[in-house]
Amino acid sequence: GKSGYDHYMLKEIYEQPRAVRQCTRGRVTEMAGSLELSELPASVRSGTDRVQLVGCGTSFYAMQYGASLLCEHGIPAQPFVASEYDADSIPIEPDTLVVAVTQSGETADTLGALRAANRAGATTLAVTNVVGSSAARECDAAVYIRAGPEISVAATKSFASQQVTLAMIASVLAERQSQPFLGALRDLPSRIQHVLDTSSARHVAEEIVDADAYFFVGRRYQYPVALEGALKMKEITYEHAEGFAAGELKHGPLALVTPRTPVVALVTGSEDVVDRTLGTVREVEARGAPVVAVTTSSAPVEPVADYVLEVPETHRHLVPILTNVQLQLLAYWTADLLGRPIDKPRNLAKSVTVE
Ligand code: M6R
Repeated sequence: GKSGYDHYMLKEIYEQPRAVRQCTRGRVTEMAGSLELSELPASVRSGTDRVQLVGCGTSFYAMQYGASLLCEHGIPAQPFVASEYDADSIPIEPDTLVVAVTQSGETADTLGALRAANRAGATTLAVTNVVGSSAARECDAAVYIRAGPEISVAATKSFASQQVTLAMIASVLAERQSQPFLGALRDLPSRIQHVLDTSSARHVAEEIVDADAYFFVGRRYQYPVALEGALKMKEITYEHAEGFAAGELKHGPLALVTPRTPVVALVTGSEDVVDRTLGTVREVEARGAPVVAVTTSSAPVEPVADYVLEVPETHRHLVPILTNVQLQLLAYWTADLLGRPIDKPRNLAKSVTVE
């Protein structure tokens, strides 16, 4: 059941500390301070020169985040929307590792891409929540995200668990196990719990609920989080929401910005990234848009933001997991105020088994 929560979505948002703890259990070993993914066979570890990731929807955004971590570790990685992954137009070399990311393991578009990769002779890896699912069975290897059953159509805890799993895979493939990263992984459940305990997203939702549209902007690792935040918002509120790379706003979307379009800005990262994102924030503020800044305590957002949703500091690779929790809560409370059927949005199914 819903264990006292009004919706499965809220229950699953609150289950994230536990889901993440499950995901790292036995993989991040506290004593040795090392990371071990026994499901990744030696052939996958050593034979990989480049990585292609395939998936849909929320899983695609988790992959975009994972791909940027792989690239930062020096492994060329490219995310593809599974329905656009076509062996005729995309080079699949034998030393390419193709990673299918799918919560259910049954998404038809993702299975189609996976089968194309298998036919082309690539090594394939499933990152999935469901043991024995089609994706798990049809890949050379499977790494489970261990999020537990997810009932709500809107993916929440599975996204966090995918992010954590992909961050671990990136670190293993790159053979880089920095102690600060491993320590931050261990502490992540308590950081997520802190966000859940202190979030003012419900109050912010009350302030911005009557809007024409919602825009989400972020840079680097926060760009996929902006896209995911907008997807969650549109999926469960039925309101128009779009995510953009913060730097892209001035190349067109700025024309849409008015006092009736709140802009949710993910303002985290290095000083340079924060400065440039604040530049975007000032541009929208000058057009009268209400600004919600999602940030860590160190970023100087106070003078420009109307509302602040803060997350604790952690390793830079894991901050996007925390900021996303704030966006999940913002979408949830906005949809709740609008009286939407949150767990079963119109026109959508939990698992999309048609192409
Ligand atoms: O089961 P999958 O991860 O393959 O599902 C992919 C998408 O259909 C899914 O993430 C969808 O976008 C969610 N409803 C988003 O909340």
